[in-house]
Amino acid sequence: MELSKKAKSLSPSMTLSISAKAKSMIKNGIDLINFTAGEPDFNTPDYIVNADIKALHEGKTRYTETSGILPLREAICEKFKKFNNIEYTPDNIVVSTGGKQALINALLSIINPDDEVIIPSPFWLSYPEMVKIAGGRSILLETKSENDFKLTIDQLNACLGDKTKCLILNNPSNPTGTAYNREELIEIANWAVKNDIIIISDEIYERLNYDTEHVSIASLGEEIKDLTITISGFSKSYAMTGWRLGYSAANVEITKLMTKLQSHMTSNASSVTQYAGLAALVDEHDEIDNMIKAFRNRRNLVKNEIDSIDDLSMVYPKGAFYAFINISKLKGRKYKDKTIEDSMGIANILLNDFKVALLPGVVFGTDDYLRISYATDEESILKGIDRIKNFIKTLNY
Ligand SMILES: Cc1ncc(COP(=O)(O)O)c(C=O)c1O
Repeated sequence: MELSKKAKSLSPSMTLSISAKAKSMIKNGIDLINFTAGEPDFNTPDYIVNADIKALHEGKTRYTETSGILPLREAICEKFKKFNNIEYTPDNIVVSTGGKQALINALLSIINPDDEVIIPSPFWLSYPEMVKIAGGRSILLETKSENDFKLTIDQLNACLGDKTKCLILNNPSNPTGTAYNREELIEIANWAVKNDIIIISDEIYERLNYDTEHVSIASLGEEIKDLTITISGFSKSYAMTGWRLGYSAANVEITKLMTKLQSHMTSNASSVTQYAGLAALVDEHDEIDNMIKAFRNRRNLVKNEIDSIDDLSMVYPKGAFYAFINISKLKGRKYKDKTIEDSMGIANILLNDFKVALLPGVVFGTDDYLRISYATDEESILKGIDRIKNFIKTLNY
């Protein structure tokens, strides 16, 4: 029997599997520094947990509206107004089981067979797989480290064709930490409006934007707002990865399609989790700001440490909790008489022989890099980078 060709064509999530291996090594007592985490190392703040427990005791345990409970959608609109400077109403919002579901809802709502989706590379590895699921074709746009991994309008024009439907913009970015400023986003918005291209603006790391204001592309005018599907969620900003709560904001036509799709796939996001999310937004405590400050300090620490190593370099990450380390100078050197050829090879040596887990750049579309997640404490960051230094010292020409 021939099982689904589409399912077979998908790559498994390498970040989840390498991360799972690192976690299991730690569980087995191995002194491993884990730089693979795609999630905050903080626990969900108590005020959020308590709201969930309260909702459970109050019996808020039944199906909700597919698009989410009204008070949560109202609170999300309020957040969009205050933080993102965008006016949405609850009928623009779909609450989903994580940002991941919001993204796949978005793609399934807009893609027809063979429509093209521009994905700036390096990219978050789920985007191309999601495009495949939706029946579209990914067009990878290679950004350059010299340009802080930001796309240019010339590059967008070079990717543009009759079938171009959408651009996925991840701001701030996983894996590079790149964040676009207002002027750059205005140029991208003008390009999208001129060419009638939908933007899926994945802003899941919006709160983790350390140096400048976070600018949402949908805030830049009515025309671009109409063309944009903004994605965000609670995983990264409120340390709620396991709860699975995210949301989208789009025009009413797209929102209706997303709601219809979700109604047949998962119905509503967990009812009590929605009440926890509501508390996260309306009762926000200092803990959230403190978490963001801790990430900023760690970002600075990683940058200083990596800059002190001659053979490594990195672009200054403005947001998220990742640093994308250029390892091209290590390629071609010898470790225990074997030539180092690729990022996967380095990641394997570091994991097995130096007990430090990182993700190879190849899973994000470029082989000259390793991704460090600094969602771990400062002591571990120093210890882990020290182990990387020790590895480099052993290399021969
Ligand atoms: C860029 C990006 N977008 C979306 C998500 C999805 O987040 P979640 O489904 O946990 O809300 C992630 C998670 O790692 C991510 O890195």
